[in-house]
Amino acid sequence: TLNKKLIEKSEELKQLSNDLSSANENLIIKDRQKDDFLDSVAHELRTPITAIRSAGEILADDDDIPLDIKREFLNNIITESDRLSEIINDILYLDKLQHGEIALNIHENNIIETYKKALSPILHLIQQKNIHISEVDLLNQYIFEYDEARMIQLFHNILGNALKFTDEQGTIQTKLSEKNDFLIIKVFNTGKNIPEEDLEMIFDKFYQSKNQNIIKPIGSGLGLAISKRLVEAHSGNIKAENSGLGVTFTITLPKKIINNNEVEQ
Ligand SMILES: Nc1ncnc2c1ncn2[C@@H]1O[C@H](COP(=O)(O)OP(=O)(O)OP(=O)(O)O)[C@@H](O)[C@H]1O
Ligand SMILES: [Mg+2]
Repeated sequence: TLNKKLIEKSEELKQLSNDLSSANENLIIKDRQKDDFLDSVAHELRTPITAIRSAGEILADDDDIPLDIKREFLNNIITESDRLSEIINDILYLDKLQHGEIALNIHENNIIETYKKALSPILHLIQQKNIHISEVDLLNQYIFEYDEARMIQLFHNILGNALKFTDEQGTIQTKLSEKNDFLIIKVFNTGKNIPEEDLEMIFDKFYQSKNQNIIKPIGSGLGLAISKRLVEAHSGNIKAENSGLGVTFTITLPKKIINNNEVEQ
């Protein structure tokens, strides 16, 4: 029996050593992810800072700059500063979401009303691009429980992308449907497809695919990372797929929210 005990102990030790080494591996991966994250943050911050610095330098060095050019440089400084604070806000917000530090304020709401609240501030920009946007189905009521401010933010990100990636004269189409105890929201827009291998990665922090309309992508690739976490905080999921001459984002939300997802501040 002494032998048996020794064998048992040795098995136990082996198991412990395995656990330790996999914990160690996880730590190494986490550490690397943190490094990558910091690299991306530094990179994203550097771009607007460089623009601000060079505009400032030119203004400081030359007293004889014509007024209109001066104004252009000053406007650049303001735009880039705004961009900088937007990126910082997004990073901090995402960090809070990831650590469950955002308390959800769950109430019964009408999702169509919420959708309209998100759409109205950018509707004129959509119309400016001559994009045709479909009316959402008003016959159904779609009342269920969610955090309205977060849902507005989610639609704002998805519709903001649709506006950015739809060509002039293109189409944005939102459809709502119900399946079992889930609400399904599909936002389709015409425009460049997302390369298949990127369909999941676009939800990663800072990831921007190659399907941009302009050489230097606008934004920093945080919108969908935030969106995914907002949906998951409501026990739902979000995915992207190419459908013909465009892209569809599908958001699936349970009509009854599972309450243990509500996190304390
Ligand atoms: N509606 C869309 N049509 C085509 N591609 C899209 C669409 N929405 C997102 N993408 C792709 O996914 C990438 C990531 O989107 P995300 O919203 O996270 O970042 P972004 O819009 O580039 O920047 P940010 O949201 O921070 O301003 C985009 O850069 C683009 O490549
Ligand atoms: Mg975006």
